[in-house]
Amino acid sequence: MSTLVIDALSKDFGGVHAVKDVSVSVDRGRILGLIGPNGSGKTTLLNMIGGTIAPTAGRVLLDGADVSRLTPHRKVRRGIARTFQTTRLLADWTVRETLELARRARPDAPSAERTARIVGVEDDLDRVGSSLPSAVQRLVMIATALAAAPQVVLLDEPAVGMDVAETDHLQDVVARVRDELEASVIVVEHNMRFLMPLADEVVVMASGSVLSAGTPEHVRNDPAVIAAYLGS
Ligand SMILES: Nc1ncnc2c1ncn2[C@@H]1O[C@H](COP(=O)(O)OP(=O)(O)O)[C@@H](O)[C@H]1O
Ligand SMILES: [Mg+2]
Repeated sequence: MSTLVIDALSKDFGGVHAVKDVSVSVDRGRILGLIGPNGSGKTTLLNMIGGTIAPTAGRVLLDGADVSRLTPHRKVRRGIARTFQTTRLLADWTVRETLELARRARPDAPSAERTARIVGVEDDLDRVGSSLPSAVQRLVMIATALAAAPQVVLLDEPAVGMDVAETDHLQDVVARVRDELEASVIVVEHNMRFLMPLADEVVVMASGSVLSAGTPEHVRNDPAVIAAYLGS
């Protein structure tokens, strides 16, 4: 059964067609990788699913219900969670305090300990945000998104700035999010070494449209994708 259905979504900013007629569905317990050059519309697409941007046309359906014009707060209550490209962490709060705040959004939220375990920060629960290395802060930010028991998890470039070991750990974390929460996960990421082994399906965007979609294997061998990447 499809959990998240993106149905012919478009977004114009004045004369800029940031997203053009994009349709994708992500089943529960699946990871969709979203790739494409800078400016191809990936963040705008995530913002229409989980953020503040209302589509110019099209709909986002979660288990059949149209969620595309709900406020971000309502979206969180419906089980849609996202992280941002920048780290936003409450600097003076402990990890536990931050997670306790985040889990208030939903009555069935997992405990702070369980969420911390999924991302591997269970030993840092009583440390304050600003004292943690940036890669750990990034994991806490993901835990914050998970604290509200999401059915849909949106990750925008989670591996940026991480070294190889940190990236490998993050790969395990995202796989655990899929498997333990049985969430639909959409990951925007430029690091193919990180993304390709993880994604069940990959969508390639170019100039706001879907250039290619399918298994990582299919996308990697798609002549349209090869031409676009070699041509740029
Ligand atoms: N708030 C905005 N106002 C005007 N143009 C925007 C806005 N957000 C994004 N854009 C434009 O939409 C296009 C897609 O941007 P974005 O979704 O951020 O791409 P990506 O995340 O793939 O790099 C770009 O041309 C960008 O300049
Ligand atoms: Mg972006």
